[in-house]
Amino acid sequence: MEWLIFSLLVLAVSTSGQLCPKRCMCQNLSPSLAILCAKTGLLFVPTVIDRRTVELRLTENFITAVRRRDFANMTSLLHLTLSRNTISQILPYAFADLKRLRALHLDSNRLSVVTDDHFRGLTNLRHLILANNQLHNISPHAFDDFVTTLEDLDLSYNNLVDIPWETIGRLTNVNTLNMDHNLIEHVPLGVFSNLHKLARLDMTSNKLKKIPPDPLFLRIPVYAKSKGSPLSSLVLSFGGNPLHCNCELLWLRRLTREDDLETCASPSDLTAKYFWTIPEEEFICDPPVITRKSPKTFVMEGQPTSLKCKANGDPDPDVHWIAPEGRLIANTSRTLSFSNGSLEINITSLKDMGVFTCIASNAAGESTGTVELVVSPLPHLANSTNRIREPDPGPSDILTSAKSTSSVSNETRSQERKVVLAELTANSALIRWPSQQHFPGIRMYQIQYNSSADDTLVYRMPQEVDVPLTAKSNTLNSLSKRTDE
Ligand SMILES: *[C@@H]1O[C@H](CO)[C@@H](O)[C@H](O)[C@H]1NC(C)=O
Ligand SMILES: *[C@@H]1O[C@H](CO)[C@@H](O)[C@H](O)[C@H]1NC(C)=O
Ligand SMILES: *[C@@H]1O[C@H](CO)[C@@H](O)[C@H](O)[C@H]1NC(C)=O
Ligand SMILES: *[C@@H]1O[C@H](CO)[C@@H](O)[C@H](O)[C@H]1NC(C)=O
Ligand SMILES: *[C@@H]1O[C@H](CO)[C@@H](O)[C@H](O)[C@H]1NC(C)=O
Ligand SMILES: *[C@@H]1O[C@H](CO)[C@@H](O)[C@H](O)[C@H]1NC(C)=O
Ligand SMILES: *[C@@H]1O[C@H](CO)[C@@H](O)[C@H](O)[C@H]1NC(C)=O
Repeated sequence: MEWLIFSLLVLAVSTSGQLCPKRCMCQNLSPSLAILCAKTGLLFVPTVIDRRTVELRLTENFITAVRRRDFANMTSLLHLTLSRNTISQILPYAFADLKRLRALHLDSNRLSVVTDDHFRGLTNLRHLILANNQLHNISPHAFDDFVTTLEDLDLSYNNLVDIPWETIGRLTNVNTLNMDHNLIEHVPLGVFSNLHKLARLDMTSNKLKKIPPDPLFLRIPVYAKSKGSPLSSLVLSFGGNPLHCNCELLWLRRLTREDDLETCASPSDLTAKYFWTIPEEEFICDPPVITRKSPKTFVMEGQPTSLKCKANGDPDPDVHWIAPEGRLIANTSRTLSFSNGSLEINITSLKDMGVFTCIASNAAGESTGTVELVVSPLPHLANSTNRIREPDPGPSDILTSAKSTSSVSNETRSQERKVVLAELTANSALIRWPSQQHFPGIRMYQIQYNSSADDTLVYRMPQEVDVPLTAKSNTLNSLSKRTDE
């Protein structure tokens, strides 16, 4: 098939001596060379294109893929249009020779992702039009070769939930950013602060509940003035988002404008009201109120427990926990602290005994509550009987099992089988052992380890537990069994 079309194209060499693909228009307005192949039924990029071409338009064809050889050596190309095809695949480095390309139009195709090597080599790109595709993911370094030259980026009418915001924040020359008609839920704080040339920012019809304040927005002109706005002014469009009109949007409301039709989606008393007609005093937040929390909690040392603290407020409060000794609780291999107020302790230790404090905070204030945790210690059986039968908690079973077994007694070898190091990676170890009823006499296990990323070095457990030990540099010091009798 490809061979056949190639033959046809060679037959189509134009009378002027230039290679001109069949049914295309080739203009040789010296020194520039333009090839226009709109609506010519092309299934792929013609192979006989003059490599000195300056402008190439392949609009409204049926091209499905862009390959590396399609634009090889076209170092003079300034303008490439591939709009309204069916392109779903761009092979890596397909545009790598287009060092001078200024405008790339890929709108109305079927692209679903942009990877880091799709646009490699486009070091002079000014306009990148990717509107009306099916994009759901753009790699963080996809635009690296032209972050400082790009003036115009159009990502509208795609399926983007997330934007590579860090990249957007580096587009120091950008003038127009179109991100409208996507599924964007979140704009990070301060992302536009270095985009001093930005003049149009369109975020219409997304899923934004709020827009963070940004120095950029001070350039939004106050309307009702003359049409001729100052050069540095910004046109911001954000209609068609489910705005949550609380105190966090007050800054935006204060930039009085009169001609837009943005509405609020929530809170319920402001639903469907026009953003710009709501008085400033109605943009309110509610400080957190702790509505429910765990009662005094009892747990056996080594057992898991979870403490809960539920808070209401507008905006939704974040909850943090303070341990009895006054330290803010972070995520460790032993504890997980969720912002909704759940604190999960996988293996409790005696150190956890005491009063935990939850702090709920939001833009309007904070509120605290307390939960008492009582940890019942496991009996220290070794001390309680005078006959201490265990040989010595010295060398651990783990360390022993790594040694040669030749000199190990039969008794030790049978003990080894009771403890299994199931998964061992550079920074984690999973230790398993059978439940105690198979080995009468064993009441409790004690694990001791040394970790740079964890606060707890000793775990004591009454029964079968999987203990994930994860840290940057762990050394498992000893695992000792305590037996009675
Ligand atoms: C590009 O140029 C190189 C070196 O001049 C040559 O080997 C290659 O065949 C050219 N490719 C195309 C598609 O013209
Ligand atoms: C708690 O234990 C469960 C099941 O053993 C495990 O999946 C989870 O990762 C553990 N969480 C922490 C914080 O260690
Ligand atoms: C702990 O991890 C959970 C889930 O990975 C996360 O939601 C939470 O924000 C983390 N908490 C802290 C204090 O970092
Ligand atoms: C908080 O979030 C965690 C993880 O998403 C979930 O397991 C827990 O049940 C939630 N707690 C509450 C009180 O909703
Ligand atoms: C058990 O003995 C250890 C040291 O041998 C000691 O630190 C610990 O307090 C004793 N525990 C009890 C309950 O007596
Ligand atoms: C101990 O091991 C030796 C050989 O290494 C074997 O002959 C002997 O029967 C074993 N004793 C017991 C009690 O299993
Ligand atoms: C943990 O290991 C490091 C390095 O091996 C050592 O310097 C440190 O003293 C150890 N800490 C404890 C509590 O054993």
